[in-house]
Amino acid sequence: MREATETTRKQARRLDLEEIELDLLLEGIQRHYGYDFRDYARASIIRRVEKFSKDQCLNSISALQEQVLHNNAVMSNFVDTISVNVTTMFRNAEFFQAFRKHAVPRLQTYPYLRFWLAGCSTGEEAFSLAILLHEEGLLERSRIYATDFSSKNIQRAKRGVFPLKSMKDYTRNYIRAGGVCDFSEYYSAQYDQAKLKSFISSNISFAQHNLVTDQSFNEFHVILCRNVMIYFNKQLQEHVMNLFHDSIAPLGFLGLGIKEAIFPTSFRSLYAEQGEGTRLFQVKN
Ligand SMILES: C[S@@+](CC[C@H](N)C(=O)[O-])C[C@H]1O[C@@H](n2cnc3c(N)ncnc32)[C@H](O)[C@@H]1O
Repeated sequence: MREATETTRKQARRLDLEEIELDLLLEGIQRHYGYDFRDYARASIIRRVEKFSKDQCLNSISALQEQVLHNNAVMSNFVDTISVNVTTMFRNAEFFQAFRKHAVPRLQTYPYLRFWLAGCSTGEEAFSLAILLHEEGLLERSRIYATDFSSKNIQRAKRGVFPLKSMKDYTRNYIRAGGVCDFSEYYSAQYDQAKLKSFISSNISFAQHNLVTDQSFNEFHVILCRNVMIYFNKQLQEHVMNLFHDSIAPLGFLGLGIKEAIFPTSFRSLYAEQGEGTRLFQVKN
């Protein structure tokens, strides 16, 4: 019994120490590189830091801190691990269906449209939106600002090149999302790669933007931030929602990830969901 209590105490001390080391690591990164992960959801960040340390064959967070602060290449890989980059074209097809049904009719009334896709990863979501807008006759009057804090992601997105083998899944998603054309018309196949055609990419501007530290940069008719805030704690979610609210046009649309039950109380009365469970919201009149 006494042994068990002693083991529990030791475990608690080890966890305390890990918490201290994690705080120091995140503080060091913020001060040295300007990336601020201190308000990311704690459980998720601990998991990723542990995985990264293991992959680097390091046995403590302090050892990782030494590497990350003194080696830019390690830091760049660290950012890749922390920022979950998973994405697909027409991800959660039901969201795009809802967008066609609820947002498109309103957007058709504007002569010029600005979209902000925050946390766009490697660009698949931006190309999906551009295809949808093209089919709805809106692309020519639209400018899509697709941003992410990872420069590697932005560089990849700018190339607009994806593995050809992914196109089978993307075609299925596209059809589920309400697409009626031949999806292969939107890319050209070169060996094992698919390059999105320029009429789809030419109205997209990819740029680096950090939701934690950067400001708003325009007013937008539509803001999509899907599967990003799920990695933030409540305080940071509220900060980002404020940023979006300052950036959204009257009667503008805001899209979140289909599984994101994020909507800080202070904003609930200002937005109405367009179709239950779609996570597509419109600013109320
Ligand atoms: C899971 S992906 C989501 C991609 C896309 N929105 C989708 O739903 O498929 C999350 C993206 O958020 C980006 N991200 C994480 N923290 C960010 C921050 N502070 N500012 C901007 N982007 C961030 C990551 O780099 C990553 O590309």
